[in-house]
Amino acid sequence: MSDIAFEGVGKTYPDGTQAVTDLDLRIESGSFTVFVGPSGCGKTTSMRMINRMIVPTVGTITVAGQDISTVDPVKLRLGIGYVIQNAGLLPHRTVLDNVATVPVLRGQSRRAARRAALEVLDRVGLDRGLAGRYPAQLSGGQQQRVGVARALAADPPILLMDEPFSAVDPVVREELQAEMQRLQADLHKTIVFVTHDIDEAIKLGDRIAVFGRGGVLQQYDPPQVILADPATDFVADFAGRDRGYRGLSFRSAADVVLHDITTATAEQLSTLRLESGDWVLVVDAAKRPQGWVDVTGLELIRAGHPPADGMAAGGSLFPPGGDLRQALDSAISSPSGWGVAVDDSGAAAGGILATEVIDQLAQQRSAEDVTRNRHFFDQE
Ligand SMILES: Nc1ncnc2c1ncn2[C@@H]1O[C@H](COP(=O)(O)OP(=O)(O)OP(=O)(O)O)[C@@H](O)[C@H]1O
Ligand SMILES: [Mg+2]
Repeated sequence: MSDIAFEGVGKTYPDGTQAVTDLDLRIESGSFTVFVGPSGCGKTTSMRMINRMIVPTVGTITVAGQDISTVDPVKLRLGIGYVIQNAGLLPHRTVLDNVATVPVLRGQSRRAARRAALEVLDRVGLDRGLAGRYPAQLSGGQQQRVGVARALAADPPILLMDEPFSAVDPVVREELQAEMQRLQADLHKTIVFVTHDIDEAIKLGDRIAVFGRGGVLQQYDPPQVILADPATDFVADFAGRDRGYRGLSFRSAADVVLHDITTATAEQLSTLRLESGDWVLVVDAAKRPQGWVDVTGLELIRAGHPPADGMAAGGSLFPPGGDLRQALDSAISSPSGWGVAVDDSGAAAGGILATEVIDQLAQQRSAEDVTRNRHFFDQE
């Protein structure tokens, strides 16, 4: 067990700054908890109090039921991995030795620690060929992966991550987020993760703690509750104007109908007959979507332009097992109004209409209303 509890915790810095105010929070063992909130609201301070890098002014923090003020800080930190923005790697040590740092500190032989470090590199999706490089010879995303590998190397039950992915570009960031989800599904660590980004919080968190000014906790709930039922105006504001749309990501699209859509390969385009308003999905030999063509595009292609000139780029693709947000986005981002569902091989599997996604939402909600009412009358 490695649950973490804050009880009446406050932190006032010597200059009088009230960074954290009366914080009560229970973080379950094996859960992924995200601290989110605007700059200066005490996220880092709260996180660093867990490993005693910062000492609370009032209150008690327990880890696995033990008051951490009674635990030797060095010993405490051996059980707590820590990842920060820009990875915080030692610049004059190789990737492998960076990852092996803590195990060596814990008394493992350098050889054994290096051997184990190679396996941790695999685990975070880093090529072993990078083991001999120095941090400056890596991309930002690779450095962040090394940071995660270093924190995992000693296999601590708790992982603290302070904006670990905020300095990398959006594409790499999504890769790292997916990697974290995969790792957590394997490892079941107790993870506390700080971010400014509500989308990142919603994607990763089992529970989200929203902090407001003065380090006052505003709400601590699963992401779908934060979106559907914000506790304060502050949370509603912070969760953003798109929160209804974001909330769709927690709803299954399994019952959204996939319609047959007309497809053609580039070679078949010349034989097509289209009327104004018709759209055809252009696919490759493996039926993977390439783009859309309407009458105007088709005329361009027939006039000798390359197919790419006559094609409109496709919208987002709806993946197998996707949610209502992905279903709706596929339809509204598609030039034809048809969202394209693909199967595991990436081949087009059918078309989705936005109106039917909204119908599906309405059905799910009325089913939830019925359940709610039944509970209500059962209680009477
Ligand atoms: N050592 C310090 N001395 C005085 N004030 C500090 C100190 N460290 C942080 N603060 C102040 O405490 C408040 C909370 O800081 P903290 O770093 O915990 O916020 P944060 O939520 O992590 O912000 P950010 O999102 O910008 O990282 C801020 O007002 C900050 O200026
Ligand atoms: Mg911070």
